[in-house]
Amino acid sequence: MATFQGILLIIQFSFVIIGVLIVSTTAAAPQALPNCPDKCGNLTVPYPFGMAEGCYRGNAFFVNCSQATDPPVAYLTKNGTVIITNISFAAGELQISTFIARDCYSSSALRTRRNSPVLRLPSPYTISDTKNKFIAVGCDTYAIFKGFRGTEQSITGCMSVCNSLESVDQNSCSGVGCCQTNIPSGLHNRTVTLDSYSNHSGIWDFNPCSFAFIVEETQFKFSGNTSFQQLNSTTRLPMILNWAIGDEPDPCDVAQKRQDFVCKQNSKCVNPTNRNGYICQCLEGYEGNPYHPDGCQDIDECKDPNLCNHGECKNLAGSYTCLCSKGYKLDSMNDKSCIKENPKNNSKMTLLLIISLSVSIDLLVLFVGISWICCGIKRRQYTKLKEKYFKENGGLLLLQQLASHGGTVETTKIFSTEELEKGTNNYHESRILGEGGYGTVYKGILPDDKVVAIKKSKGGAPTQSDQFVNEVIVLSQINHRNVVKLLGCCLETEVPLLVYEFITHGTLYEHIHKKRSSLSFELRMKIAVETAEALAYLHSSTSNPIIHRDVKAENILLDDAYTAKVSDFGASRLIPSGQTEIQTLVLGTFGYLDPEYLQSNQLTEKSDVYSFGVVLVELLTSKMALSKDSCLTSIFLSSMDEDCLNQILDDDIVNEGNIETVKNVASLAKRCLRVKGEERPTMKEVAMELEGMRITAKHPWGTNVGFCPEENEYLLGSLDSDAYVLDVRGGGGSSSGLTTGTGYDSMQIQMLMPYGDGR
Ligand SMILES: *[C@@H]1O[C@H](CO)[C@@H](O)[C@H](O)[C@H]1NC(C)=O
Ligand SMILES: *[C@@H]1O[C@H](CO)[C@@H](O)[C@H](O)[C@H]1NC(C)=O
Ligand SMILES: *[C@@H]1O[C@H](CO)[C@@H](O)[C@H](O)[C@H]1NC(C)=O
Ligand SMILES: *[C@@H]1O[C@H](CO)[C@@H](O)[C@H](O)[C@H]1NC(C)=O
Ligand SMILES: *[C@@H]1O[C@H](CO)[C@@H](O)[C@H](O)[C@H]1NC(C)=O
Ligand SMILES: *[C@@H]1O[C@H](CO)[C@@H](O)[C@H](O)[C@H]1NC(C)=O
Ligand SMILES: *[C@@H]1O[C@H](CO)[C@@H](O)[C@H](O)[C@H]1NC(C)=O
Ligand SMILES: *[C@@H]1O[C@H](CO)[C@@H](O)[C@H](O)[C@H]1NC(C)=O
Repeated sequence: MATFQGILLIIQFSFVIIGVLIVSTTAAAPQALPNCPDKCGNLTVPYPFGMAEGCYRGNAFFVNCSQATDPPVAYLTKNGTVIITNISFAAGELQISTFIARDCYSSSALRTRRNSPVLRLPSPYTISDTKNKFIAVGCDTYAIFKGFRGTEQSITGCMSVCNSLESVDQNSCSGVGCCQTNIPSGLHNRTVTLDSYSNHSGIWDFNPCSFAFIVEETQFKFSGNTSFQQLNSTTRLPMILNWAIGDEPDPCDVAQKRQDFVCKQNSKCVNPTNRNGYICQCLEGYEGNPYHPDGCQDIDECKDPNLCNHGECKNLAGSYTCLCSKGYKLDSMNDKSCIKENPKNNSKMTLLLIISLSVSIDLLVLFVGISWICCGIKRRQYTKLKEKYFKENGGLLLLQQLASHGGTVETTKIFSTEELEKGTNNYHESRILGEGGYGTVYKGILPDDKVVAIKKSKGGAPTQSDQFVNEVIVLSQINHRNVVKLLGCCLETEVPLLVYEFITHGTLYEHIHKKRSSLSFELRMKIAVETAEALAYLHSSTSNPIIHRDVKAENILLDDAYTAKVSDFGASRLIPSGQTEIQTLVLGTFGYLDPEYLQSNQLTEKSDVYSFGVVLVELLTSKMALSKDSCLTSIFLSSMDEDCLNQILDDDIVNEGNIETVKNVASLAKRCLRVKGEERPTMKEVAMELEGMRITAKHPWGTNVGFCPEENEYLLGSLDSDAYVLDVRGGGGSSSGLTTGTGYDSMQIQMLMPYGDGR
């Protein structure tokens, strides 16, 4: 028995190794924008910083990489003299190298040299008060430090006097030979001035000079024996600056609603203390550049071979878990390691153990019986078996979490039936938000006054509860500002209940079809871009993409600021298996359904692209995707073919003078609606193109014309091939940089950020 287990362990380890080899090939996340240099010597220059036209966000983030020296030197801003040595995202910091002040005397007590370096920082840079200290070194020294926060001046300083080298503190900066003081926060310039009481007479032989500087605290250690000498040959020392997006108070909840908000996916907005503006940080479990269009990337924790002793590490979005080997179970204290199982406490696990042991013995017999050469098939079977265990563990995991954390699995909560009954007034009619073939959605108010949406599905008993739990874990980790957040679930009912964040402003469907004309074209573009970004995000994991499966106007919710929130994503995954297809049809989403699906019976990412194409057409025409007598997509496609698009467009949109953009969106929608999935663009491409169109839409140039051939024949053809290159950086956001050219197709619209002066 023990040997069997040993062999089994070896096999399992080999799987772990294979897993590690596969994941370790993923490429490093990009730091600079595409086609932009990202290195100046050893310094990595990540966006929003940049070294070439079009690569940085406003002049304040320009880095002048001077090749005049070897290695090259990076200067902050145009004409800047401040040398950048490190750029850090974690706290919005910058390490720079600045001149130190010195005051030197000759043996005859005459001043031979003095400098009082000035540092002036452009907005949004300020001197960090937490990472730096003001330090003066010398034995006849007083140092004065002046700085400005806005127009308010602060003066501080310190003095250091000693009469022999022996009296100097050897290892601490405590007032004899060295003094130090904290600096005020928010300073944007500073001047350091040094002076002496008696021209260093009497101490000149061991201390001819005084020194003073602001320095990164960890980068300077005073030592009486060496600091005097070392500073004599030092010209610059490192200092930490703070930076942020913007230089005025800008609370995250306000910034988030604006169109120029810069924190990309898997990142969060943070308002640093004692600082204006905001910064972006990757969410826990993610790494990379939160300002880069690609956003932060999931960290594959499983690359660390020390995780999950006695089990296999399984990477999740933003986290990981362990698939424990037989005889071990997930530690409910941290759910991140495997501990030895106590069989007496868990009859279910004992049963599982017995089953798994007998199965593994069978497997071993097969392994021994058949040669190693054809082990590929066995490996697959074995992997399947392990997946089954994983599902099993997933269910236990959620329950264990309930026991050990009083109900919370990170952000996912397991709700009790009572709680939800109370919150919905016993599922009272007045609380119904929506109803359909899928079930009913209720508005609930939790004991802490939080408003939630509770989804009660129709359908029989769940057949694969473990898979369900798994999905809940995965989906609850999805964190995107355009995706409705799953808060938790309730497992105590026959069909599990799902609890979502409550979105206040209704569905896109209601806005288009019931309160018509309330949405401007600009808002429609915003909604389209945000929806596309959310779907691209769901698809972004190449190994385990989440397919929405039911993209439609009813599943796009809007909040007070008209931020689009995609809901019900993967919801059909949360319906007991076998019911998915029925569900889709019951939902009545035929108008949105990928035609390829009817042949293959398989929903893919490209099915979402198709459905999104229908939503785009809906946004352009304000017509329902499916009405009694007609199908919107076929009407749309035939008007496109006949160049009579204007006949079905929403008049309110056409009148806004954005014909060219409308036309571009229409042709993108047409590409999304291609019959063959593989010919459709990916959601990411769609999102990027829409974003480009949205930027150009803000600068309308098109003349207000319809474009049926009989009306404006002379325009045809020429507009088709125009490309619009936007360049409004640095010019205070004026639209004068807008130029038109020919010879490119619409894929090549260059997107340059329309930001002004780095605010
Ligand atoms: C650059 O990196 C190399 C090797 O990593 C190192 O030797 C060198 O000191 C670094 N230069 C600077 C300016 O940091
Ligand atoms: C970059 O720095 C160098 C050296 O200080 C200077 O000569 C050059 O003009 C600067 N370039 C820009 C664009 O500011
Ligand atoms: C940089 O220097 C140029 C010419 O020396 C000057 O015209 C320009 O105003 C300076 N820019 C800044 C930001 O100081
Ligand atoms: C740059 O800063 C990061 C984060 O503060 C630090 O981990 C890294 O070691 C620094 N690099 C250098 C060359 O100082
Ligand atoms: C520092 O800034 C203040 C206020 O903006 C200004 O009055 C002062 O002249 C500046 N000092 C230096 C040395 O640039
Ligand atoms: C220090 O030197 C200055 C000239 O550099 C002189 O005017 C002054 O009298 C000297 N003071 C002392 C205390 O020696
Ligand atoms: C400093 O130097 C003195 C003699 O110059 C020596 O006795 C002492 O050990 C040194 N202290 C340290 C900390 O190096
Ligand atoms: C300080 O440096 C200067 C040259 O930079 C040198 O002439 C002088 O001897 C040095 N003094 C000491 C005490 O090392």
